[in-house]
Amino acid sequence: MRIPIVAANWKMHKTIPEARAYLKRLIELAGQDPGVEVVVIPSFTALPAAAALLAPTPLGLGAQDARPESAGAYTGAVSVAQVADLGVRYVLCGHSERRKLFGEDDALVGRKVRATLHHGLAPILCVGETLDERKGGRAWAVVERQLGEALASVGDPDGLVIAYEPVWAIGTGVAAQPPAAQAMAARIRGWLRKRFGSRGEAIRIQYGGSVRPDNAREFLSLPDVDGALVGGASLDPDAFWAIVRAARG
Ligand code: PGA
Repeated sequence: MRIPIVAANWKMHKTIPEARAYLKRLIELAGQDPGVEVVVIPSFTALPAAAALLAPTPLGLGAQDARPESAGAYTGAVSVAQVADLGVRYVLCGHSERRKLFGEDDALVGRKVRATLHHGLAPILCVGETLDERKGGRAWAVVERQLGEALASVGDPDGLVIAYEPVWAIGTGVAAQPPAAQAMAARIRGWLRKRFGSRGEAIRIQYGGSVRPDNAREFLSLPDVDGALVGGASLDPDAFWAIVRAARG
């Protein structure tokens, strides 16, 4: 009942011509029916070109971040309302790089989630523990706090996606062990069910952190993992497509 969702987070990569070339190849690979939900999340600069190319296709578009305020004196920032304008369907909220490099706290992440839902878009809320937190036995406590604070005043979670990304697995080549990813996804699922009742059951949970074509199937076949958030391996359209194929079963 939960359609898998596989997303390509390009981070700060690709010029506009590079983005166009990538997307043309991806569209060719995907055909009319990719079989699962596929989302491409480019830099802001490539969003208009990506929106134009993806509009007639079943492939979705996401933004890597967006400010919750609708307008104002936020030099260098882009608002949820502005990305909504471009035909973006998803907004990454609280990616660990935003939390660490840009000092985003749970309260700000929560405001981003609420603003994204308010504009009728779908937040991909990223949660996950650091290596120290895992070693200290605090992995679940951290994820539970991140969920609790980001979703504190969310009434209707329609569209919400959770990306469980252990920070130590992001960009390191060291993915989580699939049983550990399943255990965390199951705890997240239980939390969502408690918080949102039967609507919590429909919320998709992605795994992210060093997902590659050769390990994707191990994660995507886990009962509580409904997709993947892919960084490094998503930069090549053929490698990304191999991961999407793993989600199709
Ligand atoms: P990675 O990044 O696939 O390069 O580990 C994942 C992410 O940051 O979402």
